[in-house]
Formats: sequence, C-alpha cells, structure tokens
Amino acid sequence: RIKVGVLISGSGSNLQSIIDRIEDGSLSADIVCVISNNAGAFGLERARKHTIPALHMDHRQFAGRSAYDAALVETLQQYGVELVILAGFMRIITPVLIDAFPHAIMNIHPAILPAFPGLHAQRQALDHGARISGCTVHFVDAGTDTGPIIIQAAVPVLDDDTEESLSARIQVEEHRVYPRAIQLYAEGRLSVEGRRVIITPPVPASATSL
Ligand code: GAR
Repeated sequence: RIKVGVLISGSGSNLQSIIDRIEDGSLSADIVCVISNNAGAFGLERARKHTIPALHMDHRQFAGRSAYDAALVETLQQYGVELVILAGFMRIITPVLIDAFPHAIMNIHPAILPAFPGLHAQRQALDHGARISGCTVHFVDAGTDTGPIIIQAAVPVLDDDTEESLSARIQVEEHRVYPRAIQLYAEGRLSVEGRRVIITPPVPASATSL
C-alpha cells in the first residue's frame, strides 16, 4: 500500500473524500500524515478524528519558500511518504519540494486547465462567461497549475450560478476524481510521457490468476 502525505490549508473536504475511500476499501493507500500551513484548518481535525498524524507547519516561521519546503520535505520523508497530495494547499511550492518527489506530487485545481489557473478559478470562470468548468487532477511541476494532467471532470456553469454554487458543483466532482487518480497511481498505472499522462489499462483478472 502506498504511503500518502496530504498538504492542506483549509476545510479538507478533499482530504475527507480520500479518507472515506480508504476506509471503504476502494483506495489502496494509507495517509501517513496531514500537514497544514494554517493552524485553524478544519482538515487537521478531520485527520485527528481518523487517528492520522496532523501537523501544523507555519510557513511564516521560515525565512522563505525554499526553507519552508525543505522542512516539508524533511517531515514527509520522516513519515515515509511516497506520494504527496496537495488538497487545497494554498502555497506556491518550489523546486526544493518538487525535486524531492519526482512525478509524485499531485494537485487538484477547480477548473479545466489550462483554463483559469491560479487563485479564484471559479470566479474566473464566471467572469469569463464560460459555459463549462470543472476540476483537474495533475502532477505538479515548477509552474503554477501547469503539470501533466491525470484526470479532468466537467460541470455546467448555470446562468444563476454564484461562486459558491459553482464551487459546490465542482467539489462533487473533485471528491470523485481525486481518490480515483490516487488509486491509479497506487496501481502503478500512471506514466508521464512529455506533457501527457498515459493511463495503463487494468490487468485482467484472468492474467493475474495464471
Ligand atoms: C478545492 O476546491 C481545490 O480545488 C482548491 O481548493 C479547494 C480546497 O477544498 N484548490 C485550489 O484552488 C488550488 N489553487 P478542501 O479544503 O475542502 O479540499
């Protein structure tokens, strides 16, 4: 089973969806630690409720982004993390973290990338008048929301949508696809070829029983 470390800043509803899929047996992974840069993140309470080590690491106590990321790497490695999951972690990460986990950091973004990267993606979609938005799970590279795309899911944008109503519709899809992407990784079925992620088909049961 793959050892996952989850980085959060807030509510942690995506963290919860991952916990739920692990507990119902559909995700073959273990969350070995949850780290928040924000002490008040509700996701820390969610983790503790499920007896997952939950740490607050305050970015303001470090000299800069690289120093903070070095501390993250040290902690993640102490817990034996193999896959890093960014789940509403509202910090830009540096090559210090990215290079320590090559093609082993995932992020979820509340838009169909490359549309609407960066902050307030749902508001960007509304302001642009997009008719469709959604979410993207991608591997993290050195850019902001630019890494190889693993899974996307689309939702309609309705005429009377607010940022809140659109966000809620997108989150339903986030909670479905993020555990799925992690399971594909855990099964060793994701490979990165240039910009593209290739998803290997599942091994048929008949082939494994030989
Ligand atoms: C999610 O909607 C995620 O897509 C977004 O933050 C939310 C976190 O919700 N991430 C970003 O905007 C990253 N730039 P959660 O804390 O309830 O999982």
